Amino acid sequence: MTTEQPESPTSPTRRWDTEQLPEGDEKVAAVRDMFDAIAPKYDRLNRIISFRLDVRWRKRAIRDLALPAGSTVLDLASGTGDLCVDLAAAGLHPLSMDLSFGMLAADRSGAPRVQSDILQLPVPDSSVEGVTCGFALRNLSDLDEFFVELARVVRPGGRIALLDVSTPPNPVLRFGNNIYFGKIVPKIGAALSDGAAYSYLPKSVAYLPEPDRMLAMLVDAGFGDATHRQLSGGLTQLMVATRD
Ligand SMILES: C[S@@+](CC[C@H](N)C(=O)[O-])C[C@H]1O[C@@H](n2cnc3c(N)ncnc32)[C@H](O)[C@@H]1O
Repeated sequence: MTTEQPESPTSPTRRWDTEQLPEGDEKVAAVRDMFDAIAPKYDRLNRIISFRLDVRWRKRAIRDLALPAGSTVLDLASGTGDLCVDLAAAGLHPLSMDLSFGMLAADRSGAPRVQSDILQLPVPDSSVEGVTCGFALRNLSDLDEFFVELARVVRPGGRIALLDVSTPPNPVLRFGNNIYFGKIVPKIGAALSDGAAYSYLPKSVAYLPEPDRMLAMLVDAGFGDATHRQLSGGLTQLMVATRD
């Protein structure tokens, strides 16, 4: 006879299925497990949920990165490699790094892949010309630490482009955005992938500091000309900077 226990919402296998957003090491483990679980359907859900705007946002990030062809670019929290595909198409040499083996396994970009926590990059100081990071800042356990790590690995004059979701400043758009991500996206996630993950993802925007605070953090880390812009009415934000 087996005595199988029902899976608790906070069991190690589904740590993201919780009202209380985790912090520190618990957050890192929850994020890794969650992306391992949703990796096989991640691309399809992304396109549906963003109405393919995500494709446009990534291209804009690479345009604003503005690095010459042939430059080496780390794509951090690379997921299934969408940014790597666009970087390679722009003549750059991407290297894909992510925490989740599931996401890396789903990466079809052809870029070299490395499993790593991007708060501790396995690359030497001043060794790359550029860094991109798409839709992962809010998943990190320490943003200050991340920006300092970027400053360590990017050469002086090198460039970074960081994308993440945002909260639209316009109240009408913000209201619609809240309904969409609070009510509709979790239902689409539940029908096609994992409802708890697609509830967590919109909530996780709460982890992101205000734009001015993030810019100040980037300047302190060694990116003196950091700029911030809203894309698509503030559905997404893009920060671009040059290493001092
Ligand atoms: C929303 S996905 C974005 C993937 C991809 N950049 C894109 O544009 O579609 C977030 C990714 O961040 C990764 N991630 C989260 N925290 C990480 C960390 N500390 N180190 C490395 N990767 C991390 C996840 O595994 C996941 O693949």
